[in-house]
Amino acid sequence: MAHVYALVNQKGGVGKTTTAINLGAYLAHLGQRVLVVDLDPQANATSSLGVDKNAVTSGTYEALSGGSAAASILMNERLKLALLPSSPALAGAEVELVGEERREQRLKQALQPLTARYDYILIDCPPSLGLLTVNGLIAAKDGALVPVQCEYLALEGLGLLTQTIQRVRQSLYPGLKVRGVVLTMFDPRTNLSTDVVTEVNRHFPGQVFKAIVPRSIRLAEAPSYGLPILAYAPSSVGAQAYEALARELLRGDRARQPS
Ligand SMILES: Nc1ncnc2c1ncn2[C@@H]1O[C@H](COP(=O)(O)OP(=O)(O)OP(=O)(O)O)[C@@H](O)[C@H]1O
Ligand SMILES: [Mg+2]
Repeated sequence: MAHVYALVNQKGGVGKTTTAINLGAYLAHLGQRVLVVDLDPQANATSSLGVDKNAVTSGTYEALSGGSAAASILMNERLKLALLPSSPALAGAEVELVGEERREQRLKQALQPLTARYDYILIDCPPSLGLLTVNGLIAAKDGALVPVQCEYLALEGLGLLTQTIQRVRQSLYPGLKVRGVVLTMFDPRTNLSTDVVTEVNRHFPGQVFKAIVPRSIRLAEAPSYGLPILAYAPSSVGAQAYEALARELLRGDRARQPS
């Protein structure tokens, strides 16, 4: 049974997509069968893995509309990484699903037949708390992974996210968990970054991954080559951080589910 996690934070540009594809690539490198689900109409995860979002004719949108998710999956043989791609059409889903039965459960239903085929399913959510993100949270049976950028006011938006998680727990999915907070874009030269690390740890005791992702130009460059960092700059500090994060997640998951 796959571990299913959603990368979520309604704040834009905090590293959700960067974490989804790079964590996914390292988990695959470490022998896990991994599917990245692009649940964002911006389709950044799709582009970052070298797929032209405008050429996608079947992907997350079709899966949410009742089509087969399995039929839309693209396999990157070099990276051993599977992708359920997104396309701009997904922007319509939020509107079209309003009024539909069980509209919040669509992604969960679509991914159900895939959970036996993968060890990890990572869902890259858009920067909003709308219906797409709610679908992501409900599908994420093992919890949310929350990237937080190490910058001023990082904690401010987390209150809103915590409220949404509470609301989803109360109304739709009482079992929703937060698997962990991933600190991103850490800059060791600033006291501010260090302060944010301290603050986030105080707010989420025991829930913050020890692997911290530094600000790294290589991580920002890799998407324009359509490559995750392990293929673009495997010895960079960003690569090391994402490899450490993948190992930490795997270790934690094994400890939770002794086989
Ligand atoms: N550790 C890092 N160091 C430097 N640049 C980074 C780092 N992580 C992400 N970036 C860059 O910052 C920008 C935002 O990152 P990313 O797209 O992963 O955020 P996001 O939360 O998915 O954004 P959105 O909310 O728009 O979906 C991107 O240009 C990305 O390449
Ligand atoms: Mg994104």
